[in-house]
Amino acid sequence: MEEIRIPSENAPPAEPIIEFRGVSKTYPTGTHALEDVNIRITAGEFVFIVGSSGAGKSTFMKLIMREEKANTGLIRVNGFNLTTMPRKQVPMLRRTMGIVFQDFRLIPTMNVFQNVAFAMHVVGASDRNVRKEVSRALSKVGLGNKARSMPAQLSGGEQQRVGLARALVNSPDLIIADEPTGNVDPNMSYEIVSLLTEINKRGTTVLMVTHDHNLVRDFQHRVIMLERGKIVADNAGGSF
Ligand SMILES: Nc1ncnc2c1ncn2[C@@H]1O[C@H](COP(=O)(O)OP(=O)(O)O)[C@@H](O)[C@H]1O
Ligand SMILES: [Mg+2]
Repeated sequence: MEEIRIPSENAPPAEPIIEFRGVSKTYPTGTHALEDVNIRITAGEFVFIVGSSGAGKSTFMKLIMREEKANTGLIRVNGFNLTTMPRKQVPMLRRTMGIVFQDFRLIPTMNVFQNVAFAMHVVGASDRNVRKEVSRALSKVGLGNKARSMPAQLSGGEQQRVGLARALVNSPDLIIADEPTGNVDPNMSYEIVSLLTEINKRGTTVLMVTHDHNLVRDFQHRVIMLERGKIVADNAGGSF
């Protein structure tokens, strides 16, 4: 029998997987991309990030990946303090996250299997583990029968599912996706968000930037809205 644990009423609140406190980002050009952003995201959440073009959505994601550094404020991701973390620790941070790109970024000379396997080889996984986990990731995204196809032989939606398998294969705590459905047709967009929702239900935190009002309406997740670098809404109910 599994032990059932009831959290006590005065248990401390769960440690957030992502925390921004008073974060501002100004690019060297003088553009204020984010201003005084405060946010807490708890492990296991699915969060849509919305807002018009130039609102600061990609900057927000880049700060989480430490692709950019904040000018002021505190950022914690997965237990790492990104404000004080030396550059050489960035690969350790990235290993805890799976990143899905709008333009897929598959390697055109490698087949589907090799594209996903590559993400495991770079973190030093054994060949046996690579075979097992890549097959598992590909069947999860419904591409078990496309392992030998080349990216150019796949539709946009299929390419993005390879991107999803690659993001998943190292069992990340967090998936970061900046407009992952920006280059796929509406039906496939639904399929991609359904897959992300399934992955989220098994415990992975998901952060996804989107412009698609229909997706946000139909998949009732938390919605954070940015405008001109500021958070202007934060709804649990899937509306904006
Ligand atoms: N590398 C950069 N250098 C200078 N300005 C940038 C850079 N990246 C983004 N910006 C500017 O920062 C603002 C926010 O951009 P971004 O985060 O990409 O917004 P979004 O993803 O919501 O469209 C915009 O005004 C954009 O032009
Ligand atoms: Mg963007």
